[in-house]
Amino acid sequence: MKMVDQTALPTRFAYVSCTTPEQVASAIRTMVVRGAPAIGVAAAMGLALAAQRSRASRVPDLIRDMEATAALLRSTRPTAVNLFWGIDRVMRKAKAADTVGEARESVVAEVRAMADEDVEANRRLGRVGADLIDDGDTVLTQCNAGALATVGYGTALGVVRAAIEQGKFVKVLVPETRPALQGARLTAFELSRDRIPCTLIADTAVGHMMSLGRVDKVFVGADRITKDGYVFNKIGTYQEAVLARRHRVPFYPAAPRSTFDLARTHGQVTIEERGAEEVFMIKGRRIAPKRVPVANPAFDMTPPELVSAMVTERGLIESPFASGISRLMS
Ligand code: MRU
Repeated sequence: MKMVDQTALPTRFAYVSCTTPEQVASAIRTMVVRGAPAIGVAAAMGLALAAQRSRASRVPDLIRDMEATAALLRSTRPTAVNLFWGIDRVMRKAKAADTVGEARESVVAEVRAMADEDVEANRRLGRVGADLIDDGDTVLTQCNAGALATVGYGTALGVVRAAIEQGKFVKVLVPETRPALQGARLTAFELSRDRIPCTLIADTAVGHMMSLGRVDKVFVGADRITKDGYVFNKIGTYQEAVLARRHRVPFYPAAPRSTFDLARTHGQVTIEERGAEEVFMIKGRRIAPKRVPVANPAFDMTPPELVSAMVTERGLIESPFASGISRLMS
């Protein structure tokens, strides 16, 4: 399988080929591929690769080989539920097969279906969200919730794309998104490439821009939305939501069904802690004194009371969110 190397952007647009599930796991862990829907489908592809490479001639042996790979893929990143959703979907298909040949074929077909469904869901949720955007709006986002983070089109940026397709003029304010800089490196790249007007800002400028009235709406993606309506997304999202409430700016997470976790409440989610070097190094140079303690939570949690509505391919979910999620997503 081939994927865009997101660690090389925006300097270099290069593809990485993975021929083993171990390479796929490493690509997910090191964020060669990142973004919740993208890692869900990538993990599913990694598992399909395991099915093809297994020497098993009986279904139980194939399942055992695939379970070992599934465990490796599950250990790569803990927060985005799409990763677990993708793996579970492929495992279910394999377990339903009568022969090894049938299992191999059906897992590949399942992964193809998942990839197509992701683009379709994003286009649909894009149209749902676009109705919330007025001509001339400036939309604030966070991280990269665009085509790069999905199989195509994007979630939060899919909403922007759909609004533009409706003939509206929309401008995007892009926080750099320290420490991994997905905003500066990926969202600014993706939007500029598609000629969508955007302005890059430092993360620290978000409150000031809102206080000047320069943000009309906030649209962000999500890595997991729990059944009690809490939104887990890239670190910095929560402070955007708090500031949005202070300045009466609507705050909308946009996410497909695969991002909803109907089995868990917010207290049961692990927020990924990434390496300290992401914080104390910039472009290979240390920017903080040696031995200073560093915390690097990669995601944060926005409570439902700060959410104006959730944009999904099945329609808008409004408060009270727990019942809305259960009604629309079950
Ligand atoms: O650490 P990342 O880059 O994988 O985090 C990605 C995000 O937080 C995105 O906002 C989220 O996955 C939604 S992508 C459509």
